Amino acid sequence: MAKIKILVGTTYGTSQEVAEDCAAQLKALGHDASVLRQPAYDEVVSDAPQVLLVCSATIGQGEVPENLLPLYLELNDRFPLMPNAGFALIARGDSSYENFAEGGRQVADLLRELQLRELVPPLFLDACETMDPEAEVDAWIQKLAEVL
Ligand SMILES: Cc1cc2nc3c(=O)[nH]c(=O)nc-3n(C[C@H](O)[C@H](O)[C@H](O)COP(=O)(O)O)c2cc1C
Repeated sequence: MAKIKILVGTTYGTSQEVAEDCAAQLKALGHDASVLRQPAYDEVVSDAPQVLLVCSATIGQGEVPENLLPLYLELNDRFPLMPNAGFALIARGDSSYENFAEGGRQVADLLRELQLRELVPPLFLDACETMDPEAEVDAWIQKLAEVL
């Protein structure tokens, strides 16, 4: 059983729904999954083995959504190395914008610098293509679950 913290970055709530869907599936597979809408530094940084699942949209001109920004900035400032942790990224965006899914990409880049191990390739969800990505998310979670 893995301990999975799902870090949500959202402005309009879609990514929160995706995160809740992921949590439900991971729990059904026997994992301990929690959704953190306002993730605090101390909740996220730990020496114990754990998985961070980033589920973030992009806002502004390729920016991290406001609710996830404080954590992103604090991690960047304090730079806690977490070699015992793994992570995976679901990045929502809209390819009609110049910086497609850049918010999620920025968070993932930082986690790589903090030495977290990337467990599976990112899932990019394009609002331009589909508003209802449930099937894609379900298939991706199955792949993630295989390496937990
Ligand atoms: C003002 C605004 C700016 C946005 N900027 C970007 C962007 O730079 N890159 C991108 O990929 N998507 C961008 N988006 C699209 C959102 O990331 C996309 O609609 C996403 O599904 C919203 O998810 P949320 O409901 O979790 O906030 C923007 C949307 C809005 C309304």
